Amino acid sequence: MSKNHVSRRAFVGGATAAAALGTLGLTPDILAAKERRAAERGIRLIPGGAPMLRPWQSQVDAYDALAHLSSNENPFGPPEKAIDAMTYAFKYSMRYGYPDNNVQQRIADGHGVPRDHILMGAGSGEILNVMGLTWLAHDKKVVGVEPSYGSVYSHASGIDAETILLPLEADYRQNVERMVEATNRNARDVGFVYVCNPNNPTGVTMTADEIAYLLDNIPEDIPVLIDEAYHHFVEDPAYEESIKYVREGRKVVVARTFSKIYGMAAMRIGFAIAPPDMIQEMRPYSTGSVNALARWGAVAAMDDTASSDRMLAHNRKWREQTIADLASLGYESIPSQTNFFMVNLRQPVAPIRRAFRERGVAVGRDFPPMLDHLRVSIGNEEEMGRFMNAFEDILQTSLMSTQSG
Ligand SMILES: Cc1ncc(COP(=O)(O)O)c(C=O)c1O
Repeated sequence: MSKNHVSRRAFVGGATAAAALGTLGLTPDILAAKERRAAERGIRLIPGGAPMLRPWQSQVDAYDALAHLSSNENPFGPPEKAIDAMTYAFKYSMRYGYPDNNVQQRIADGHGVPRDHILMGAGSGEILNVMGLTWLAHDKKVVGVEPSYGSVYSHASGIDAETILLPLEADYRQNVERMVEATNRNARDVGFVYVCNPNNPTGVTMTADEIAYLLDNIPEDIPVLIDEAYHHFVEDPAYEESIKYVREGRKVVVARTFSKIYGMAAMRIGFAIAPPDMIQEMRPYSTGSVNALARWGAVAAMDDTASSDRMLAHNRKWREQTIADLASLGYESIPSQTNFFMVNLRQPVAPIRRAFRERGVAVGRDFPPMLDHLRVSIGNEEEMGRFMNAFEDILQTSLMSTQSG
C-alpha cells in the first residue's frame, strides 16, 4: 500500500482507528496536538476520522431531521455495491487520469449503442445546459411546455435565448400537435425542442405514438431533447424510451441520470445518448468533469438490478397508497408514472408548503401556473407517514378556518 493511501476506515474511524492512525502516520502525540489545535478552533474530531465543524452542526441536524419530499430523490441512496465501488475509487482521488471502470462503454453497452454515442455529464443537468450552449446561440429559441423541468428554460434565459412555452392540456398532457405547430411556425428560429418524458412536475408521460408524431412532423434538422430522467419508473405500456431514434440517426438527444433510480444525486453523474455528430457538436461545451467516485459507483449501480427493483416496488406501493389516502380525505392527485405526484389542494400551495416545513416536512416548490397543486416526492416509509400526518393536520386546520371564516 502506498504511503499516501488513505483507506475508507481512516475516514470513518471506529474499531480500526488505531490501524488507520498508523496508516496516516499519526502517533498519539501528534493526534493529541491535533486535537488541541482543533479544540482551540471550535472543531471536534471524530476519533481517527474527519473533523466535524461545530458551526455547521445545527444546519446538519436541521437538514437531517427533515422529511425530504421536495426534490424527487431516492430515499435509500445508492445500492450497497455502488457504495463499495465508490469507497474503492477513493484511492484515485488525487488523480486526473485513472481507470474509471469503463463507465462510458458500460453505459453504451447497457443501452445498445456504440461508445461514441455517449456524452457524460456532471448530472443530466449538465447535459441540459450543454444543449442550450450548443443549439441556442445566435438568438435561437427552445420550444417546450409549462410547467416542465424549468432548468432548461432558465438556462436559456440566462444565455439570452428565448423560450416558446405551451400550456398543458386540461388532463395535464403535453399537446404534441401544438408543439409541432409552434415548432414549424418558428422553424427558422428554433434551436431545439424540449420534451420531458415523463414530465416533471406532473409525472405524466408522452406516448410512443406522440413522440413519433412529433419527430415525423417537424423539420428533421431541428434537434429534439428528450429528458428521460424518470424513465425507469414508467409502467404505462403506451410509453417507450426514445433511444431507438438515436440508433436511427435522427436528430434526437436522450438525457438520462443516475440521480433518481440509482440514488446518486449528490455524486453528479448523468449522460446524453445521441448520434456521434451531435455528440461532437456538444462536447466543446461540456466540462468532462465527472468525478472518479461517481464513475465507479455508476457502473456498480447499473449492475445491481435487484436494488433498482426494490426501489421500484417501494415507490409504486407508497405512491399509490398515499394517493389513495389523499383521495379518502377528498383531495385528487394526478396519476403519476414517476417517483413523485401532484395533489390538487384547490388553494395556493405556498402557505401550505410553509406549514409543512414548520412540521419538518419539505415538499415541492411552486410550479406556475399550477399554483394549487403540491408536488410530493416518494420518500421512505417514515417520511410518508410524517407527510400524511402533517397533511391531515394542516388541511384539516385550513378547512376548519375556511369554514369558520
Ligand atoms: C426532469 C429532470 N431532468 C433533469 C434533472 C437533473 O438531474 P441531475 O442533474 O441530478 O441528473 C432533474 C432533476 O430533478 C429532472 O427532474
